[in-house]
Amino acid sequence: MALDLSPQEASNIGTELQPRRSVIELRDVSKHYKDAGAPIVDRLTLSISEGEFVALTGPSGCGKTTTLKMINRLIEPSSGQIIINGQDVGDLPSHRLRQGIGYVIQNVGLFPHMTIADNVAAVPRLLGWKKDRMTPRIDELLSMVGLEPSIYRDRYPRELSGGQAQRVGVARALAADPPILLMDEPFAAVDPITRTSLQDEFLRLQQSIRKTIVFVTHDMAEAMRLADRVVIFGPQSKIAQVGAPTEVLSAPADAFVASMLGSGRLMQLLSCVRLRDVSLDRWPTLAQGLEGDERLAALSSAKIEGKNRVLVLDEAKRPLYWIYSDATGESSKVEVDCKLELDATSLRDAITQIVYCSHDCAVVVDGDGAFQGIINIQGIRRSLAPLAGAGTSAANIGVDK
Ligand SMILES: Nc1ncnc2c1ncn2[C@@H]1O[C@H](COP(=O)(O)OP(=O)(O)OP(=O)(O)O)[C@@H](O)[C@H]1O
Ligand SMILES: [Mg+2]
Repeated sequence: MALDLSPQEASNIGTELQPRRSVIELRDVSKHYKDAGAPIVDRLTLSISEGEFVALTGPSGCGKTTTLKMINRLIEPSSGQIIINGQDVGDLPSHRLRQGIGYVIQNVGLFPHMTIADNVAAVPRLLGWKKDRMTPRIDELLSMVGLEPSIYRDRYPRELSGGQAQRVGVARALAADPPILLMDEPFAAVDPITRTSLQDEFLRLQQSIRKTIVFVTHDMAEAMRLADRVVIFGPQSKIAQVGAPTEVLSAPADAFVASMLGSGRLMQLLSCVRLRDVSLDRWPTLAQGLEGDERLAALSSAKIEGKNRVLVLDEAKRPLYWIYSDATGESSKVEVDCKLELDATSLRDAITQIVYCSHDCAVVVDGDGAFQGIINIQGIRRSLAPLAGAGTSAANIGVDK
């Protein structure tokens, strides 16, 4: 089992299905304010594909919010071009442009004198939606972000917690079903557990709505968890590195990127790499219903491989139980207590599960429950060896920016 990721292979993980059509293109975009000296954003070029989830991250003040606001023209660029769906945004009336782009504002920005329902309905109302279309949509969105409509619909923003207000911000941005979402630190003001559950909900939501998303966050783990591609900005929105999370985590471009990724880099990498991305170990199996000599033959050939048990599979190759042989040749059935799904399980989850399971290894199955192989701690360590090597190159040298 090896995970020899070249940068190209690493960047392919999880992105094979990524569509190619570019939806948002920033071409040599700069922003400077008079009397402010150096530009805030300096000649930024970036292309974002349809359905892609891109996270922008970088130090405070590097121009992330400015970049988002230039995409929907809340801020006009000083130079350069921004193209959305092939059209220069400078040629579009700004209200038309914003109707097609949902925006979750940093620090939420709900209208304080409007109820939650009216906040969510802000854009549909501008678009002239009738009440009979709007009311069910508001309820649908509130439910979607985990707020019971009958409780929250008529409240005011001051009657919500920070996390609830952020959910309303997300619902409001989704209200008119825009194809593009710009999200500025949408989950920043909540505790880590609520944040993780908001991220989970949002990931599930994105599976079905498949928007093109530009998402600003300071939280590197959040960027790595959510995004197809991560952009790490240096000062003035200069791109220090752009790539798939596994690519950035396994090979930071320089000491600045490594310092941005911080000491949690290996754990984040473990969270990003799925069982489908590593090769599993095989294990001797036995078809259900085979008894007597066939079972004994399977157990003795397993023994030759140094294994004291075989895995019994049903006719659809789904694992049923282990059969152990003891010194006297007797065999005993033991339940499979650690079964992990190939696509859904990260190496980090796998480690946690294996530590607690009684056979020191997990049985890995595909989406239909069919046996694919096994994984144990030794296998995970082998797969990590090349990545840990990459880790010593930058993060562990301790170079400060
Ligand atoms: N109207 C303005 N005039 C002059 N400078 C401005 C103006 N608006 C923003 N800036 C400056 O532009 C820089 C970038 O601001 P921006 O809000 O884009 O940063 P950010 O990366 O989003 O930061 P944070 O992570 O703290 O939200 C900051 O140094 C800020 O002070
Ligand atoms: Mg900002």
